[in-house]
Amino acid sequence: TSAQIGVTGLAVMGRNLARNFARNGYTVAVHNRTASRTKALVEEFGGEGDFIKAETAEEFVAALERPRRLVIMVKAGEPTDAVIQEFAPLLEPGDMIIDGGNAHFADTRRRERALREQGIHFVGMGVSGGEEGALHGPSIMPGGPTASYDSLGPMLEKISAKAKDGAPCVTHVGPDGAGHFVKMVHNGIEYADMQLIGEAYQLLRDVAGYSPAEIAEIFRIWNQGRLDSYLIEITAEVLSHVDASTGKPFVDVVVDQAEQKGTGRWTVQIALDLGVPVSGIAEAVFARSLSGHAGLREASRELAGPQAVPLGKEEAAAFADRVEQALYASKIVSYTQGFHEIAAGSEEYGWDIDLGAVSSIWRGGCIIRAAFLDRIRAAYDARADLPSLLSDETFAREIADAQDDWREVVIAAVRQGVPTPGFAAALAYYDGLRAERLPAALTQGQRDFFGAHTYRRVDREGAFHTLWGGDRSEASA
Ligand code: 6PG
Repeated sequence: TSAQIGVTGLAVMGRNLARNFARNGYTVAVHNRTASRTKALVEEFGGEGDFIKAETAEEFVAALERPRRLVIMVKAGEPTDAVIQEFAPLLEPGDMIIDGGNAHFADTRRRERALREQGIHFVGMGVSGGEEGALHGPSIMPGGPTASYDSLGPMLEKISAKAKDGAPCVTHVGPDGAGHFVKMVHNGIEYADMQLIGEAYQLLRDVAGYSPAEIAEIFRIWNQGRLDSYLIEITAEVLSHVDASTGKPFVDVVVDQAEQKGTGRWTVQIALDLGVPVSGIAEAVFARSLSGHAGLREASRELAGPQAVPLGKEEAAAFADRVEQALYASKIVSYTQGFHEIAAGSEEYGWDIDLGAVSSIWRGGCIIRAAFLDRIRAAYDARADLPSLLSDETFAREIADAQDDWREVVIAAVRQGVPTPGFAAALAYYDGLRAERLPAALTQGQRDFFGAHTYRRVDREGAFHTLWGGDRSEASA
């Protein structure tokens, strides 16, 4: 017998993905650099389906039916290149290498190009949903040649999560790096969602005076409404958890320095290159970074802050409702920014990404899965060429309804000295887009003054320069 698919790299994500294929009836070849892992997988989970154990790269490749589908689940970066270099010489034209790691899309583009010369289809595949998702159904974002999707797609559709309407959470995102690009932005949005939830928590605690357990209850209620999402759900779990050794809320015994593996940072770096304002996502990355500067924070502890005035009980409940509005409105903004970045990447690299399809496959399986994605899907269904999520009537109306509370929450945060960079950046983005006139006109004047960089006029075509050092007459540039 031969395997329809092979997985090399059997750390927890690879192992669970291999098991997912096997549980869905596929024969799966499994391989790992250290063979003990392969052995352990088959010993422990062999009963779940058909596995073929391969000790060497040659055995692994020989076990696969043609065209071969070879999934690599190793660390992004050099380890991925090393595995590609090991296997590519053993493959034949038409075979597929599928990289399911969190690769940078530029690496994926480079690898796709190099392998294309050998006739090998390289599929950069974003996978979201953590360990559980990999096993029970992740959201899958494959890029690469369309031909590869014809052969691979049905298998991915089988192992993927399904949205509530039954649709598989996988689509062919686009050529070369498109899949990993979309996964990257997914993670940027994930960072923003987490930051906004964190700010809501901090406000409920420091301004409204609620305990972590009470805040968990508030999140549970929010989770029954429009904020219904995996991240809100697990937030309630984390907040209600009590540390066994101290009896304190778990959240109070964890060091408050957030780590990151890089995908959020990439989202911001690429957005800067593409000229897309992803301020909410950027603030989320910066907030993690600030939290990690222990020495700087220690040295700043004595800096002056406002006299904080906690709210009374009734005010607190009303404030919590406002925070829900602020969180929801800010969430609309971070998705607006994320989808803008995907649209810009698609344009830059000629990927022709279907934004509606992206919102659709994020409805299940992934970390940012949420009822909210159904609404984004509906917005793109209503209008595929929507210039921005904020141009959707429903979202615009919801923000209009939320904005007074949103502003009040940011004001309260500022007054009480609670940092809410996510809420505030989202609001500034919203007001920036809305503004009739921006001080960018003044920026242009300054640039022209010190560097003769020229400006355009509201009333005439062309580029102009004012002779600032002379008689201040205007010249056509
Ligand atoms: C997912 C997650 C996953 C990973 C994050 C964690 O979609 O399943 O995003 O890819 O858990 O990359 O990222 P940080 O370590 O950077 O927070």
